[in-house]
Amino acid sequence: MERDNRSTPELPAPRGTNDLLPPESWRWQEVARLALDTFAAAGYAPVDTPMFEHTEVFERGVGSTSEVVGKQMYTFTDRGGRSLTLRPELTAPVMRAVLGHNLHRGRLPVKLAYAGPLFRQERPQKGRYRQFSQVGIEAIGSSDHLVDAEVIEVGMRFLERAGAPARLLLNSIGHLDPSCRTGYLKLLVEYLDERAALLAPVDIERVDTNPLRTFDSKEPNTIDVMRDAPLITDHLCNDCRRHFDAVRSSLEDLGIAYVLQPRLVRGLDYYTRTAFEFVAGGLGSQNAVGGGGRYDGLAESLGGEPLPGIGFALGLDRILLAAGDEDDGRRGSVTAYVVTVGEAARRAGLALATRLRAAGVATDLDLIGRSMKGQMKDAGRSGAKWAVILGDDELASNRVTLRDMESGEQSAVAVEELEERVRR
Ligand code: HAM
Repeated sequence: MERDNRSTPELPAPRGTNDLLPPESWRWQEVARLALDTFAAAGYAPVDTPMFEHTEVFERGVGSTSEVVGKQMYTFTDRGGRSLTLRPELTAPVMRAVLGHNLHRGRLPVKLAYAGPLFRQERPQKGRYRQFSQVGIEAIGSSDHLVDAEVIEVGMRFLERAGAPARLLLNSIGHLDPSCRTGYLKLLVEYLDERAALLAPVDIERVDTNPLRTFDSKEPNTIDVMRDAPLITDHLCNDCRRHFDAVRSSLEDLGIAYVLQPRLVRGLDYYTRTAFEFVAGGLGSQNAVGGGGRYDGLAESLGGEPLPGIGFALGLDRILLAAGDEDDGRRGSVTAYVVTVGEAARRAGLALATRLRAAGVATDLDLIGRSMKGQMKDAGRSGAKWAVILGDDELASNRVTLRDMESGEQSAVAVEELEERVRR
């Protein structure tokens, strides 16, 4: 057989994207499934929305002063002249779908879970990609503090089960009212204006557009200034304060440890009240495996009626990095491998494999015409526990020779008993 030895592709995957290949792809699929199972056990039903949306969904929902919308979106005009954007996050699309299909007229809260790819044109590095995957949940239609506690608990428990236990950073950023965040922002801007000369140039711009984000600055000068800046938690209105206290007690009731982080502001503009982040060790600078919070004003930004909500999203790529490789070497292996000797047996081999597969036994066989020796070698590579050997004698007696790949023991088994034997 002629083989083409060219191995370097002329077209690599685009910058910041990854090809997901076996064996890692098995683990990836397992963790995504574990997420949806964990979420389903708390009553969160699967949802998916299109990969692209009208750009407005993100401009109005996430906010155009956010970095994600302002700098990172893959936006294009389609042949009909519409501005569309590859989804950079899922909370705004999910809310759009809930409102559009009137799910909030049914049982409340609407509890939804997702797993899927997102797109942001960021500078790629370990744990930060241009196409990445999130798993997450959204609970829409209740402002009860118990929802906040439930959502956070589900996230923490999933991370634990996925082998990436995380620390919980918690804050409340109040709501947009002069008695609460709006009043606080005035104080913050005054504080920053007085120190404008000390701020890094990129942050001076933020003071006007999105002053809270100065807390996230990586600039040493700004970090210095922010050390003594007024904190939102000292300026919450009574309702937001009470809500936050209640969330904290509920978390304590559940035995969930948290670290209060009054400088945690989150990067998307829709957040109100509870804001949180899950951070894991071993990830370097991209240590946020997930984040979330309340978004009680999002429905209105999208043109709907007032409808509170809370949720989180976790980066699947980062969870897998944090969990490390737990590959036991057998993942993706088949249980049985059908080895055939002779033309007649080869013709019967696929039917035998099909019979085992239909009975739920993962089975592989030779598909490129190997010799018997080659097939035994391939059976070894496949990770199969059993080789099911079929030759002329076996065909005639309606039996197979079953070989334990580990011990090398062989015995004759009637075809009718085969499924039972290999399953044991
Ligand atoms: P986010 O903080 O923008 O929140 O993203 C959540 C998580 O997605 C991050 O903590 C990180 O693990 C992962 N992630 C974000 N960008 C990247 C990237 N470029 N490469 C790899 N992983 C990344 C949201 O997206 C909100 N929608 C979360 C939410 C749901 N809030 C309420 N409900």
